Amino acid sequence: MNIIFPGSFDPITKGHEDIIKRALKIFGNIEILILNNFNKNHIFSINERKDIILKIFKEDKRVKITTFDGLLADYIKENDVDVILRSVRNVIDFENEKINAIVNNDLCDIETFFLFSKKKYEYVSSGMVKDVYFNGGNISLYVSFEVLEFLNNKFRRNSNGNFRIN
Ligand code: PNS
Repeated sequence: MNIIFPGSFDPITKGHEDIIKRALKIFGNIEILILNNFNKNHIFSINERKDIILKIFKEDKRVKITTFDGLLADYIKENDVDVILRSVRNVIDFENEKINAIVNNDLCDIETFFLFSKKKYEYVSSGMVKDVYFNGGNISLYVSFEVLEFLNNKFRRNSNGNFRIN
């Protein structure tokens, strides 16, 4: 069965990683599909987000990492995909994910499976990570070392203590 875990992963968090590991136990393999979310301003390009995830999962042959700049339903129509996997952290996610699942089903007749996030990741989001990081806080609880490395390489502080993009 070909299962895709689509997301913007800007950047990938420990919450995402936990969902991927738990899904691997159930499905045996997974494709992480990196897309753009029109409602978000991304700090990393699709290829940078792919490089980060590749670095984290490089040892794991069960994990395939792909990218697509367009509609998820179009990717599904063009590729051999059986099911979408998404995660739900709270009621806000629930309502949004319900809409996404229905729209994707309308567009290409695909089903979406859901995993609930573990309690300890319930509040972890890429948006929160960026907010903490760009205000000088410690994000090591929320992201893997590789993510911090990519962030520090791209966004260094200048002598005034402000971030500048490399
Ligand atoms: O990690 P995110 O930001 O919650 O992921 C959302 C994502 C990227 C899966 C969604 O925005 C998406 O599918 N984007 C591609 C464009 C698309 O198909 N939009 C309609 C979704 S119903």
